[in-house]
Amino acid sequence: MNITVVGTGYVGLVTGTCFAETGNHVVCVDIDEKKVKRMQSGEIPIYEPGLDLLFERNTRQGRLVFTTDLAEGIKSAEVIFLALPTPPGEDGSADLKYILGVADDISKLIQDYKVIVDKSTVPVGTAEKVHAILARNLSEELFDVVSNPEFLREGVAVDDFMKPDRVVIGTRSERAQKLMKQLYEPFVRQGNPIYFMDERSAEMTKYAANSYLAARISFMNEIANLCELVGANVDAVRVGMGSDSRIGKRFLFPGIGYGGSCFPKDVQALAKTAEDKGYDFKILKAVMNVNKTQKHRLTAKIKAHLGDNLSGKTIALWGLAFKPNTDDIREAPAIYLIEDLLSAGAKIKAFDPEAMKNVQAVFGDGVQMAQDQYEALIGADALAIVTEWSVFRTPSFEVMKQLLKNPVIFDGRNLYDVELMEDKGFYYESIGRNTVG
Ligand SMILES: NC(=O)c1ccc[n+]([C@@H]2O[C@H](COP(=O)([O-])OP(=O)(O)OC[C@H]3O[C@@H](n4cnc5c(N)ncnc54)[C@H](O)[C@@H]3O)[C@@H](O)[C@H]2O)c1
Repeated sequence: MNITVVGTGYVGLVTGTCFAETGNHVVCVDIDEKKVKRMQSGEIPIYEPGLDLLFERNTRQGRLVFTTDLAEGIKSAEVIFLALPTPPGEDGSADLKYILGVADDISKLIQDYKVIVDKSTVPVGTAEKVHAILARNLSEELFDVVSNPEFLREGVAVDDFMKPDRVVIGTRSERAQKLMKQLYEPFVRQGNPIYFMDERSAEMTKYAANSYLAARISFMNEIANLCELVGANVDAVRVGMGSDSRIGKRFLFPGIGYGGSCFPKDVQALAKTAEDKGYDFKILKAVMNVNKTQKHRLTAKIKAHLGDNLSGKTIALWGLAFKPNTDDIREAPAIYLIEDLLSAGAKIKAFDPEAMKNVQAVFGDGVQMAQDQYEALIGADALAIVTEWSVFRTPSFEVMKQLLKNPVIFDGRNLYDVELMEDKGFYYESIGRNTVG
């Protein structure tokens, strides 16, 4: 099939590459000229494990091409995916200007039947808005609009796309359904379902899924905070409750708040949808409030130990990305911690395997970047662990003790065993477990 993907960010580039991998011809369109030039010359602008191999193969074999020219890009497309940003507007609702703007552009270019697919996370009713915009310039026989929300996770995006738990397709058009089924069938050969539903339900499914996952995180963060107060160990509690098959083991890890480009904005946008309908969605408000506080949890712990004024102190940071295996720092807890520490007068020395460049673009020389995780510790008064990259899981504690000015660790991800840290002679504070040292 001939496919066009408009917007080549984390979702668009993975979508385009994976569709090319199953034999389709894919044109990726982006307005960012620099980015398109880099991709044309074989460079991947984001870090996503496994993407390089597929990108290289499919560009080499001519199934995956890039352009800034929308007219050229959609000329022979049968299906056009919109993988455009939907950032929060000032009132918290998802800003649809990119989606609706491109829909308007497309409406002036289409000559033959095409399916326009909302791949972005968009509020309920967006497919109808896109339809209305297209219908201003096009006869109804020339297009269908489909809502096909994306559930991939950054860091495992290629695996998630190639083997999705499910595919959700929102459309009432049989013609579009058939095309979408044909396109997705190679990805669900193991029997995972393709669910067909109406557009509004598909749009709601994505928000409901992300909001529920965010709620699980905030719930566990509150359980962890309470564990600290009552002397329970949240790790034990987590496995104890997670083994109940009604609850499940995954997504129960407490930490220092959810971040990334999706959960914060999607929870906020769903809350706004509820508000617009006059519905008081109390749980969502609590989820957001808990998260806001939790993102400052390490700061509170650091200040309680080292004092409110951190001038003259150096804090080492391990991890900057909002989660491991990505370079994405949007809404990352590290950003909040860095702001807190800088405004308390601290110096920061940080290391992250992939995200240092992106953080440097925000903070410039305000944050000193280290060559590796150990260099970040040299002369630091304490270490704060922010992202659970595997490389931080089994470090040499002896070397750490030698390099740190004081053997003090604030662990926002509960990477180490509390008793081990006590044996090793560290002052060690984590989330929802007792403090030792
Ligand atoms: N990142 C994720 O993990 C994830 C997962 C599921 C769903 N989503 C949703 O997918 C959508 C895209 O997210 P993302 O993380 O890929 O965004 P992104 O910011 O990484 O990428 C968006 C791309 O669109 C391009 N763009 C902007 N305006 C354009 C235009 N007019 N024409 C062509 N290109 C244009 C930008 O240059 C950029 O390359 C969002 O709605 C997001 O909520 C994201």
